Amino acid sequence: MIPILDLQKQYEEIRQQTEQEVLKVLSSGRYILGENVKKFEENFAQYCSTGRAIGLASGTDALHIALRALDIGPADEVITVAFTFFATTEAISYVGAKPVFADINPKTFNLDIDELEKKITPKTKAIIPVHLYGQPVDMDPVVELAKKHDLFVIEDCAQAVGSAYKGKKVGSIGDAGCFSFFPTKNLGAAGDGGMLTTNSNYIAERVASLRNHGSHIRYYHTEVGLNSRLDELQAAILNVKLPHIDRWNSQRKEAAYYYNDLLKEYPDIATPVEMDDTDCVYHQYTVKIPQRDKVHEILKENGVMSMIYYPVPIHLQEAYSRLDLREGYLPNTEKVTRQVLSLPIFPEITREQQQKVANELIKAIETISVKS
Ligand SMILES: Cc1ncc(COP(=O)(O)O)c(C=O)c1O
Repeated sequence: MIPILDLQKQYEEIRQQTEQEVLKVLSSGRYILGENVKKFEENFAQYCSTGRAIGLASGTDALHIALRALDIGPADEVITVAFTFFATTEAISYVGAKPVFADINPKTFNLDIDELEKKITPKTKAIIPVHLYGQPVDMDPVVELAKKHDLFVIEDCAQAVGSAYKGKKVGSIGDAGCFSFFPTKNLGAAGDGGMLTTNSNYIAERVASLRNHGSHIRYYHTEVGLNSRLDELQAAILNVKLPHIDRWNSQRKEAAYYYNDLLKEYPDIATPVEMDDTDCVYHQYTVKIPQRDKVHEILKENGVMSMIYYPVPIHLQEAYSRLDLREGYLPNTEKVTRQVLSLPIFPEITREQQQKVANELIKAIETISVKS
């Protein structure tokens, strides 16, 4: 079976140094908010070219705490997309605000700017653009609209560490950037982890307090916060991995271009489209195909893992039935949800593996079209 990603292969490359660093933490007796977190925050801020980076327990918490730090709450609306992982909107709900969904551009899978503008109301306080699959959102018009309407921009960078828009790393463009170090992400920990990046010292200080029970000085609490700290073991592992991320992202990109080449003669397969002046990090390599569910099944039977990110758009999830948004509300999102299939991609994937994936994909589509 060709896996969707192979974490063990990556671990083998960095095993020795990782195990050394982990053992150092274990014998240090300092497991929370120590030197490793501090060092990783500094390194990560430098990597993203942001003034500050604050380590958190997850990407979900980064989004939640960003909204808290910007005082967004009940009575406010936050615009995002319904074609994302559920956590993006969960965070909006945690602070009691209303998620408002704008449709996507079906080519890039990301926020459609005209649709975004239509959803702005006097209650809108923030926009959460999601850099889905590692492809940056067209940020200039987002930032422009936000300025015009006095809105905050919180970038959901969970899938896009290292990607860049017009030479700027994601996470450095909006008021805050929210990253996930979930193990399957391009920069993954050995457990949960997250980061908030910002150029605002005010936001950084507020986030540092909120992650630590609303406290900067032990046992003195200025507000009710959360327990959401990146821990020392995860930070030690991430410090080992960070120097490799650009190379791993380039390897993903090379693999993506190789798939493009292998699939280019098949009009039934829409390969990913990159926007001009962006650097994509291919967290996923996602094609659009007809009869997606059948193809997905046939690939599995023939030894190729593929994934559907995401089978149900958020506005149609049971958890948001109270919003009463029906099928047809976001036509592009709904259509794309029925077409997308993500193929195996990871830095260590071999050309032979990719050839097998491409061959099986082409065969599956041809078999179905002959039958129907
Ligand atoms: C787009 C997006 N946003 C938010 C998250 C939440 O991150 P985490 O799993 O670290 O909480 C994820 C990943 O899981 C994601 O893919």
